[in-house]
Parts: sequence; structure tokens; C-alpha cells
Amino acid sequence: MERAIAPTAPRSRRQFLAAATMTAGLVLGACTSRQTTHDRVVGPSAGAVGQAEARRRRPGAPVREVTLTAAPVTVDLAGRTVTTWAYNDAVPGPIVRLRAGEVLRARLDNRLPEPTTIHWHGVALRNDMDGAPDMTQPPVRPGGRFTYEFTVPDPGTYWFHPHVGLQLDRGLYGPLLIDDPAEPGGYDREQVIVLDDWTDGIGPSPQQLQARLAAQGGMMGQGGMMGQAGPGTSPVLGGSGGQIDYPAYLLNGRPPADPPTIQGRPGQRLRLRVINAAAETAFRLALGGHRLTVTHSDGLPVAPVMVDALVVGMGERYDAVITLGDGVFPLVAVAEGKQGQALGVVRTAGGARPAAAARPGELDGRLLGLGELRADPRVALPARRPDRTHRVVLSGGMMDARWTINGRTFDDAIPLQVREGERVRLVLANQSMMFHPVHLHGHSFQVQTRAGSEVGPRKDTVIVRPMEQFAVDLLASNPGQWMLHCHNLYHQQAGMMTTLSYVV
Ligand code: C2O
Ligand code: CU
Repeated sequence: MERAIAPTAPRSRRQFLAAATMTAGLVLGACTSRQTTHDRVVGPSAGAVGQAEARRRRPGAPVREVTLTAAPVTVDLAGRTVTTWAYNDAVPGPIVRLRAGEVLRARLDNRLPEPTTIHWHGVALRNDMDGAPDMTQPPVRPGGRFTYEFTVPDPGTYWFHPHVGLQLDRGLYGPLLIDDPAEPGGYDREQVIVLDDWTDGIGPSPQQLQARLAAQGGMMGQGGMMGQAGPGTSPVLGGSGGQIDYPAYLLNGRPPADPPTIQGRPGQRLRLRVINAAAETAFRLALGGHRLTVTHSDGLPVAPVMVDALVVGMGERYDAVITLGDGVFPLVAVAEGKQGQALGVVRTAGGARPAAAARPGELDGRLLGLGELRADPRVALPARRPDRTHRVVLSGGMMDARWTINGRTFDDAIPLQVREGERVRLVLANQSMMFHPVHLHGHSFQVQTRAGSEVGPRKDTVIVRPMEQFAVDLLASNPGQWMLHCHNLYHQQAGMMTTLSYVV
């Protein structure tokens, strides 16, 4: 089953998907001048994908089984009964937890009225289990089932969510924790913190929000100054905080009027695993009366940095350790550049709980900067010149509501080709007036810091601010077809997505 395409013809997404999903050995024309003709796309069912998995899999590795049922549910939001979609009747969904090197076997039972998939955000897994609809698998139909099975290679804080339509802006998300068999410890207890912006059932539906954004056109059409459209602005995000003011912000599924409590004892070291599962909101997180020692970014260790507050973009995770004081403290996640916040309560003593609108001074204290993070030597990429560089230009949102990568929406994106074994540099260049948390599936790259240092943090999602440009490097060691997109769900759905495409 081979079909040649003229080398000069840009490949449409549809042609490309057909190639990637149907066969591993389809002959395609090259699409960049650096390519010779007849590169073969390494599709999700290619032998190389199975070989990469075989290298990860230990004989006799334990298999952990979980069933995730995606279905409509009712949840209680501070006394309001809200209908939404969730996994296993809970928002967030269940914590899926296993050790690095083990195999996750997760059965998805789709009881939604729409097709869906599950994407395992941040995990360097086998390509055919990545949950990218029409790219690595056909979406699972209503009433249908699909079993995901893959080795989890790296310890860390990850999460899972659907990758179809606007489903992520409902309650479909959950933590995926991968424990380190050689965990160095340094903490006494831990707490997962999942942040979300919430509209389902209490505000416009995600579809209405999307339609509203489309009708508004771009930022030029919103009557505001460039970069100042939407709810508000944030110096940290370099402009607009977003285009949607959500009616609520949740911490572990609870609004500030009914915050979850995290218990501990004075002097204990608490590890927070913070996950931003929001569709359109970055959060600024701080704990009143405490400093945070940041230990991991997007699951992987960094040289510890002590700060008062940190900004977490959509899709990003940070782990931080805190030495608990004596008392009752607000754990606040402010919707950065918007109105409102999410709240938790950290309690080591009796006493009244903090007000829903508590704003601890730490929020305005020392803020974590991306440029000060350094990958732990255990996970740093070896210094090496890139074999290949791709520019990833982020733009759009001005005259109309389309968002693009390299001037194209995902419909007709030209894949970024790589070959297995290459050191690949992606130069992320934001030429728009909004920040974009850029996420790459199946890999974690290393940020080349603004100072040009090669030892920035390993991450899989990174905020690129308006008019900012920097490089991230990765080792192309996980063959397949991988989405690269903005983790602002509305930008992604409006086109800001492309493919990192392995070829041979
Ligand atoms: Cu959490 Cu394609 O993303
Ligand atoms: Cu974006």
C-alpha cells in the first residue's frame, strides 16, 4: 500500500493522518528543502514503536490495572448541583499511581455522548497509546471501550485527560503519579493539588465559550488595546491573562467557598504535586506563611529553588516541598491575569479557616522564574549540538480567532520531521499578543535558558510569552507521530497544533 506524493506538494493533515495511522511504510514526498525525497513516516503501528516499548519493558514488570469510565455525573460545587462529565464519578478523577518501569493497563469505558480518547500527558509512552484522536488511534465511540497498555518509564507527576474537542473544559481529568523506586525522599507526606477553571453547569458551556471567541474575532476586534483584551492583564504572562473569565476556579474539584483541607503536623515536610488542568487559565500559587522549595518541573527533578510563589501554565506541573508551620494557612491559586482564585486550607492546628478571598503576601513575593531552573544532572540531556532545528512560530488571534503554528492551523499543518536518534532543537517564537503553554507529546525537552545555558529544566509544557523566543532541545528517542500544541484548549481547537513526525 504505497502512494507517492509530489515532493513539492504540502501535505494536508488528512493525507498525513491517513499515512500515519494506516501504515508504517507509506512513501511520502519530502516537505522541507532539507529532506531528501521519499521519507517514510513512522506511524503508530510501525515496528520502531514496538521496539522502543520493548527497550522500556522489563521482563516480569508488574501490570497495574485501572478502569476509567468517562460519563455524565452530578457534582456538588459549594451547595450547587452541577452536571458535568468526569472519570469514575469524581472531579478530579481517580489518582492513577504506579512505579516507574511498571506497566499501566487502563480500560477506558466511554459512556459519554461523544467519541473520546485518553491522553497521558507528559509520559514518554509508546506512540499508539498516546490518545491523539485520528493520529494514534480512532476516537472511542460512545458506548465503546479501549484498553491503553504501556510501560511508564520515568517517575514524576503527570496527568491524564481526553484529547477530543472541548472535553477537557469539563471535569475529565485526573492525576497520574509515577513513583521512583529510588525515591530520595526528603519529605514526610504529600498532597496532589489539581487546579481548574470551571464553567460547566454554572456558566456558558465550553461550546458557547468557543462560539463567543469565534464571534469576537481576534483581539483587534475586542475593542481593547493589543494584548489587553479579555479579563485582565498579567506582567508575568507578558500581557493578557486569557480571554475567558470563568465563574469559578477549583482546587481538587472544590470552589473557595468549600475548600479542601490538607492536614499535617508542624515541622512536617509536605510535598505538593501541583497540576494545572485548566483549559484557559494560568495560576499563581502560594501558601500563606510558607516558602516553597521547587523540586520538580513537569515531573522531572530540578536543582531545588526556594520561592514564595510560582506561576503554573495549563498542562504544567510543579512539585514543591514545604516545611509546615503551626496554624491554619491559605493555599491560594490566583487566576493569573484574571479575577478570582482557587483555595485550599493547610491545617496543623485548630482555628478558623481562611476567608475565600484570602490573599497571602507570598503571592507578591519572590516568584519562580523559568530561567532560574536547572535540570537535575540525573535527567539533564548531555551537551550536544542539535542535528536539526525547527522553528515553531506561534501566531494568530489578531484579526480573526484562528491560532496558528508556522502560519497554519492544524488542518493543513506541515509536520516537523525528525529522525530517531537526532538531537532536535525547537525554536519557540511567540509572535502573538498572548502567552502560550506549548506542550509536546511523548517527550520531555530541555529548555535552553534565555542566558543560552544548556542546563535549563526538562519539561514537556512551557509558557512562551508574547513576543518571546527561546529554544528547547530534545532527544528523538520515541518514534511515532506526536502532537505539539498550545495547551490553551481554545487555541488548540482554533488551530494551534502541529505534529512532530518521525520519518526514516
Ligand atoms: Cu495535555 Cu495534547 O495534551
Ligand atoms: Cu495558546
